[in-house]
Amino acid sequence: MTEATQKPDVPENIVLVGFMGSGKSTVGRMLARRLRFRFLDTDKLVEERAHLRISEIFEKHGEADFRGRETAALTSLCGIRQHIIATGGGIVTVPENIPLLRSLGLVVLLTAEPDEIYRRVSRNSERPLLQVEDPRRRVLDLMASRLPSYEAAAHFRVDSTRLQHVDVTEKIVEEAHRFFHWPQSMRA
Ligand code: S3P
Repeated sequence: MTEATQKPDVPENIVLVGFMGSGKSTVGRMLARRLRFRFLDTDKLVEERAHLRISEIFEKHGEADFRGRETAALTSLCGIRQHIIATGGGIVTVPENIPLLRSLGLVVLLTAEPDEIYRRVSRNSERPLLQVEDPRRRVLDLMASRLPSYEAAAHFRVDSTRLQHVDVTEKIVEEAHRFFHWPQSMRA
């Protein structure tokens, strides 16, 4: 992770990256309400454009096709301002996505301990990458192999294992103030 200092040309958006179950959508919606920004989710954009659910895209066209659609969705966000953007957990696996993510604004990595992630994701069986014999092993392997890419993408990291979503949100708001040089009056 690099120093979280805004470059003059980086727009005011907050991009959330992290593994499935790290809380990107829930925290993203809270952040959007808190900062009065709009909320976007790249998974939802892909689904709306394809008129298919993510599980159907994986089933009918495979993961590589999904990744192409995900990069296209990310590219289409260029130029937006004052959005909170939640991303799919594998978005960092395509190297060209990393500069795209960073060009959108402050990139925040949400993490949690592997057992906590596994507990959260096993409540929802829709995720295609976890439809395997040993999903816990899969979670551990994917988390380990993706960590360097998450770190390359992110300016800042928050571990949510023992935090409430509202506390994670406040940590990100604080970091956004530093990053974007927002005045104190915007803190309320
Ligand atoms: C994926 C994570 C999912 C979704 C797709 C692939 C991944 O998003 O993009 O199932 O590769 O980790 P969430 O992180 O929102 O579950």
